[in-house]
Amino acid sequence: MKTANNNWSKSSWKEFSAQQQPNWPNQAVVDRVLNELETLPPLVFAGEIRSLKALLAKAVTGDAFLLQGGDCSENFAHVTAPRIRESLKVLLQMAITLTYAGGVPVIKVGRIAGQFAKPRSSDTETVGGLTLPSYRGDMVNGADPTVEARTPNPKRMLKGYNMAASTLNLLRAFTRGGFAALHRVQAWNQEFVSQSPMGMTYERMAKQIDQAIQFMETIGIAMDTPQINQAQFFTSHEALLLGYEQALTRIDSTTGDCYDCSAHLLWIGERTRQIDGAHVEFLRGVLNPIGVKIGPDYDLDNIKRLVEILNPENEAGRLTLITRFGKDRVEQMLPPLLREMKREGKNIVWSCDPMHANTFTSAGGRKTRNFSDIISETTSFFEIHWNEDTVPGGVHFELTGEDVTECIGGARDIDDKDLDINYETTCDPRLNAEQSLELAFQIAEMIRS
Ligand code: PEP
Ligand code: CO
Repeated sequence: MKTANNNWSKSSWKEFSAQQQPNWPNQAVVDRVLNELETLPPLVFAGEIRSLKALLAKAVTGDAFLLQGGDCSENFAHVTAPRIRESLKVLLQMAITLTYAGGVPVIKVGRIAGQFAKPRSSDTETVGGLTLPSYRGDMVNGADPTVEARTPNPKRMLKGYNMAASTLNLLRAFTRGGFAALHRVQAWNQEFVSQSPMGMTYERMAKQIDQAIQFMETIGIAMDTPQINQAQFFTSHEALLLGYEQALTRIDSTTGDCYDCSAHLLWIGERTRQIDGAHVEFLRGVLNPIGVKIGPDYDLDNIKRLVEILNPENEAGRLTLITRFGKDRVEQMLPPLLREMKREGKNIVWSCDPMHANTFTSAGGRKTRNFSDIISETTSFFEIHWNEDTVPGGVHFELTGEDVTECIGGARDIDDKDLDINYETTCDPRLNAEQSLELAFQIAEMIRS
């Protein structure tokens, strides 16, 4: 079996300390659930995971671009056809715009079909004088502020598996069945442009994309080929609950290699990337593409060791570093990291998460983000890469296809008091569909020039 290093097994993480695990009240029930999960079919397949890795290898050199996005935390109650469709739709719309502007294929990866577990800054939360376990995502407990809802319930892992399976089933149907056809996605973009208060600004590019599609039709390129009427779409989530990830880890019968078949790409969060921790131990041994979040307080030597542990063979496409420094610290924190990795010749997909270090609490007490801060960190990310002669390989957003009011700013200028209109996230604030498309058009303008 080919693994990244010796002495690894899918349970070797148990010898290491694991941060951010729920305090399950009854270990016997946990064991029963995990045994059952081990017998259930994989959610994704090794061949698909290898395809994603090959595409990501291209993003290392700028021959492809990664677009990763979705909910901060998916909710079971929101696993419905319309919501899955709208999330997919907005990502497809963003992707077509970025493909046209960047002139390279866009690798579409959802934070979807398994993004059900969350790290939290505190184990407990006090609501109305009552101290409760923190909400850790639908795969662990419920968000309602009651003892009953907040008590971790391992059976939720089984439900999470089933929710992920039905989400994937629909995503596969939508992306293969004509829903994702190029001219359809472009028609949605035209609709967005005609309705957005900023529409005029985006009209020219939307028109050019139209012309490109018409040109293909004119010269007789068949519009019913898979390249035109299907989309390749991949899934990802934070690999947080190691018992669950272990249970979905399988040996590929064609190669004998170990893959975590809960999603195509797994990432390690800012709070669980300790080099001597269980999450790093687990992920170093599965052959999926791996992401690692890096916040502004990183230690350079520590990141160098982490890169060595997770990608000892410097395989292109294996490792995506997702930087989340905040608009004020990106100028200071990104260049040293880029220079060092370049000096060492490391193959890395550099992705920008302009969400997680730009979060603040609004005057009305809502956790929010400002659209202009998101634009600001993203712009800095690209400019710094261009200055350093490194490759800005992708972006990572928290967004939804719904018309929520969770982030302020954007063309409709959502402000503090609008946040109450439709604020539904149980975790971090997401860009709504319009804000997401606006962001894509603004990035497109930037990378084109
Ligand atoms: C997240 O992506 O929702 C998250 C918790 O990010 P980070 O680990 O970067 O804080
Ligand atoms: Co988040």
